Amino acid sequence: MKNKNIKTILLVSFSFVLVLSITSATPQSAYGAKTPKADDVSDNWIAEDQAKASKRAAEVVPFVDKVVDECRLFRQQKLRKMKLSVNDIDNSYFLLDSPIINKEDDQYGPVRFMHSKHAASVGDCSACHHYRPADENALETTRCSACHQESFMSDHPERVGLKAAYHLQCMGCHQEMAEGPVDCIGCHVKKVPDHADFVKLGVNPGAIEVTKECLRCHANAGEDMLSSVHWLWEGPSPYTLCKEKKINHGKRSTAINNY
Ligand code: HEC
Ligand code: HEC
Ligand code: HEC
Ligand code: HEC
Ligand code: HEC
Repeated sequence: MKNKNIKTILLVSFSFVLVLSITSATPQSAYGAKTPKADDVSDNWIAEDQAKASKRAAEVVPFVDKVVDECRLFRQQKLRKMKLSVNDIDNSYFLLDSPIINKEDDQYGPVRFMHSKHAASVGDCSACHHYRPADENALETTRCSACHQESFMSDHPERVGLKAAYHLQCMGCHQEMAEGPVDCIGCHVKKVPDHADFVKLGVNPGAIEVTKECLRCHANAGEDMLSSVHWLWEGPSPYTLCKEKKINHGKRSTAINNY
């Protein structure tokens, strides 16, 4: 019986943690800022032109078959001579969420890419825009997806697919410069469905009811919690009034901080 009580208390505190993490994801304070803070990898930042960026992300551009084969140094000099600069960037912000990739794999939400900020800190358009279409009238800085589409194309075995193109170039440079994220969560936020439609609770529900409701779908997360350090922690508490040096305090032993 005692065991059951402990379990209930635990589940309540577990759901509090989850609720906190969900509510902290609402876009409020940072809304409208031009760029997110460098350490803000979550999706709680929304750009001013978010709707436009989402629309661009969904576009599939025509495939470019013939490209000009020139060496990197030559291309770099050419773009520098053309004096292409941050001022020539119309889209300071991209969401990368290509339907080409998503039809094979769609575990994550769109990837945020601060284009102008990158161009300014890298200082070289050709570091990313490394090839151009053979068509003289085409844009020097054509989108990656114009040349990188499917992950295998028998006519162009030398070209990597779009997902690999991004991963190799984005992470490759971050690794080389020792700046920018290389961990998955640095670029990816897991797709979490809107829980407004999921959670069915009455008016003013009690903590235990809330926990039960979450566990309807998250039973495994509840079980995992039981063997996690968040549940099992305990330790000496020399500064706790009346318990000085006497007891090992913690969720596990004295059910402290269990709400
Ligand atoms: C530097 C940024 C960056 C990092 C770090 C990164 N990715 Fe990606 N990833 C991207 C981009 C950009 C795309 C393409 C997004 C699109 O167009 O849909 C992508 C696409 C994907 C996709 C396919 C799209 C989807 O929604 O499922 C998967 C799966 C994926 N990445 C897994 C990973 C994993 C696993 C890691 C860690 C080992 C990782 N990525 C690290 C940038 C990154
Ligand atoms: C860190 C890599 C990086 C750098 C540096 C960079 N870009 Fe980009 N650029 C991108 C990516 C990624 C896209 C979006 C590609 C896509 O949607 O497939 C893009 C898209 C563009 C587009 C839109 C192309 C279209 O067809 O709509 C233009 C224009 C552009 N870049 C210009 C520039 C200029 C000018 C510079 C240099 C001042 C520059 N970029 C530097 C990565 C970069
Ligand atoms: C005009 C066509 C074109 C565009 C636009 C283009 N690429 Fe490429 N890319 C190529 C070709 C061709 C190759 C094969 C190069 C080879 O044979 O080594 C390639 C190869 C790559 C490779 C493999 C390794 C390497 O660096 O050679 C990566 C990664 C890559 N591209 C990423 C990107 C990204 C990211 C973008 C957008 C910022 C982009 N590419 C835009 C044509 C293009
Ligand atoms: C040529 C080098 C280079 C390439 C290519 C590159 N990055 Fe970065 N990236 C950087 C540098 C340098 C920083 C840190 C500088 C800064 O914060 O201004 C950075 C920072 C970041 C950050 C964290 C700060 C922020 O602006 O949100 C993200 C996320 C990121 N890059 C995503 C990407 C994605 C996605 C791609 C591929 C489409 C990419 N990067 C390609 C150099 C690069
Ligand atoms: C009707 C089913 C359902 C209910 C009820 C539900 N969820 Fe979810 N939840 C999901 C699904 C589906 C996902 C996405 C898949 C996943 O990550 O497991 C998810 C994802 C999450 C995530 C992100 C997990 C991660 O790995 O990033 C959190 C946090 C979360 N839920 C918290 C809660 C909380 C707190 C409650 C109760 C107030 C709750 N959920 C109730 C279905 C539900």
